[in-house]
Amino acid sequence: MKFDFYLPVEVLFGSGRLYTLGEVAKRYGYRAIIITGKNSTKENGALDRAIRSLKKWGAEEVILYDRVEPNPTDQMVNEASAIVVENKIDYIVGLGGGSALDTAKAVSIVSSNEGYAWDYVNYPEGPRLIPYLNRPVICIPTTAGTGSEVNRYSVISNPKRKEKLVISHSLNYPKVAIIDPTLTLSMSPRLTAITGVDAFVHALESLTNKVENIFADDLAIRALRIIKEWLPVAVNEPENLTAREWMSYASMLAGIAIDKKRVALIHGMEHPVSAHYPNVAHAEGLAALAPAITAFNYKGNPQKYALFAEIMGYEPKPEKAVDAVVELLEKVGLRVSLKELGVEKEKLERLTEDTYMLSRGLFPINPVEPTVEDIYELYVKAYEGF
Ligand SMILES: [Fe+2]
Repeated sequence: MKFDFYLPVEVLFGSGRLYTLGEVAKRYGYRAIIITGKNSTKENGALDRAIRSLKKWGAEEVILYDRVEPNPTDQMVNEASAIVVENKIDYIVGLGGGSALDTAKAVSIVSSNEGYAWDYVNYPEGPRLIPYLNRPVICIPTTAGTGSEVNRYSVISNPKRKEKLVISHSLNYPKVAIIDPTLTLSMSPRLTAITGVDAFVHALESLTNKVENIFADDLAIRALRIIKEWLPVAVNEPENLTAREWMSYASMLAGIAIDKKRVALIHGMEHPVSAHYPNVAHAEGLAALAPAITAFNYKGNPQKYALFAEIMGYEPKPEKAVDAVVELLEKVGLRVSLKELGVEKEKLERLTEDTYMLSRGLFPINPVEPTVEDIYELYVKAYEGF
């Protein structure tokens, strides 16, 4: 039995807890920036409430960066970082889905150190970044899926290079996560499904990959149990707060699980897809790839896939894991192929190359270590609809 556990994120979880933002933020200074998307936090009132809370507790300046889009780019991070430096911002609030949170975290690294966002993808741990210089980040998720509020990852796209890579560094943890499930009530059924499937794949991949960490396994197991029961409810009854609370909780658990155990080939093969097709949502790509990759993977870790199948209500046999994945995707309306998502067949070779070049760090921890040929075949299967 072996595990490491380090999580320097203070979690404040509970419905209605957005109101604590100002009180918490006060520790970090007087000049804030809120990093958010273009519409949803304005429409559902979360942004106004966040600003009011900050002002009530003494924030002197609250600047808004509201240009984050899905699949956030290095250029957005650089732009927001320049605003942070210019305005002598003390701390950063990320409010929104995974894109806003990933951007907020990356802005802390870039605005507090030298260089640009792309300098920090795949950046090694070491003494070159100075921890006490980093601006504190408070993450407030308005979706349930990314887990970014509790982990060290920021996924950043570079549209010029058509690459999507990860800043993964111990200085990329937020200081505080305020997880208020009421903020997820306004998600549409489709967004609920998409974000929930991201959490589902985080739990599945962290549970079944080859990294040894019993503590993270327990988090992933619990997350899967909750997602099986509550994701379909949240999709069908968007205003069911109990379902929203459970999904926010499961997303957080899975977010910690991948912080400790990382992901695996489903994420490794998805990132090139949404790098080349930015209109494809991260979890749509995951949904298209998950059945074929599960069928490829289960023999490499039969015990864990049998456990996964059992959690999902099937006989505890590894091969049943494929049916379990397919059933969950069908239940939430996300059974899609890469072709249906608009991926072109001629692109599959390029996607294969990119997976090999950019994601091969994940190969050794994938249940079955893939060859280049395997990856191409898996793309073809996911393209045609497995
Ligand atoms: Fe993900």
